[in-house]
Amino acid sequence: MNCSANILDSFRVDGARALVTGASRGIGQAVAVCLAQAGADVALSARSSSALEESVELVQGQGRVAAPVPADLATPGAAESVVDEAASALGGLDIVVHNAGILPCQPDGSPTMVPLQGSAQEDWDRVVSLNLNATAAVCRSAHRHLASSPRAGMVLMSSLAGVAGTPRMEAYAATKAAQISLVRSLGVGWASEGIRVNAVCPGWTRTDMTSFAYANQPLSDWLTAHVPMGRWAEPHEIASAVLFLVSSASSFLTGQALLIDGGASVPDGGLAGTPKPPSPFVDA
Ligand SMILES: NC(=O)c1ccc[n+]([C@@H]2O[C@H](COP(=O)([O-])OP(=O)(O)OC[C@H]3O[C@@H](n4cnc5c(N)ncnc54)[C@H](OP(=O)(O)O)[C@@H]3O)[C@@H](O)[C@H]2O)c1
Repeated sequence: MNCSANILDSFRVDGARALVTGASRGIGQAVAVCLAQAGADVALSARSSSALEESVELVQGQGRVAAPVPADLATPGAAESVVDEAASALGGLDIVVHNAGILPCQPDGSPTMVPLQGSAQEDWDRVVSLNLNATAAVCRSAHRHLASSPRAGMVLMSSLAGVAGTPRMEAYAATKAAQISLVRSLGVGWASEGIRVNAVCPGWTRTDMTSFAYANQPLSDWLTAHVPMGRWAEPHEIASAVLFLVSSASSFLTGQALLIDGGASVPDGGLAGTPKPPSPFVDA
């Protein structure tokens, strides 16, 4: 794009073929809809077809093709199948947003926020299996499709937890930091093939994953007291940054991790003076 063109056009991804994992709800659903609004056809991945129905309808509502590619990405071989099925359904891939991820959970799905020393190795393994091993598998499988695209962009959904000390979520934080490392290595390694690779690092965002926290007023107040903007992020505020990173608006940007956290990661040198309520963690 040159200076005489309309800058807003560089944010469009008309005709792009995109895969979004973890697209059934939350941030992934917002990303899928955002990409469709900007002109992309979208393959959507989550564990079941039924969970993807709403997102499929939302993408189709934007007048774009929606291709569900359900699979449990923590299962060996699933990431490869999802990527290849998405490419087959859309005729190739230009954009891959790998967003599926989990917090350590109890069998009933509620998050396990215990310090590492009180956690089990199986909890660690479960988080690493999806958040890191599946990430590597998605990237590995996506490479050959993206390498044949003239407009290839990949985004990994990391987290503020990947750059900040995050007690009680050590496994999660370690996998999110590893995603940032992978983005740096792939951003550099794939640059000569025209594939840009970046990470988005959201702060606390209002989704099903975090309902345990925003539905708990003392915990929510304590968390937002550590956010200079003093509130939760909404999924669309993360999705718009993803669009920037996969569109030609960011055409010279690769290997970077973009923090979208209301300023939470910025050291204030103790000068902000924001009053902090007492920690809701009894032994903290
Ligand atoms: N919310 C936040 O505050 C926050 C902050 C920083 C980073 N993030 C990151 O953002 C991403 C999305 O988070 P979210 O808050 O939108 O979470 P969410 O509402 O819990 O959604 C998670 C998505 O991942 C899918 N998923 C979970 N396990 C899967 C598996 N084994 N195989 C395939 N898909 C699976 C879910 O689909 P099904 O359950 O339907 O299979 C769902 O679509 C995650 O990587 C998370 O770590 C979130």
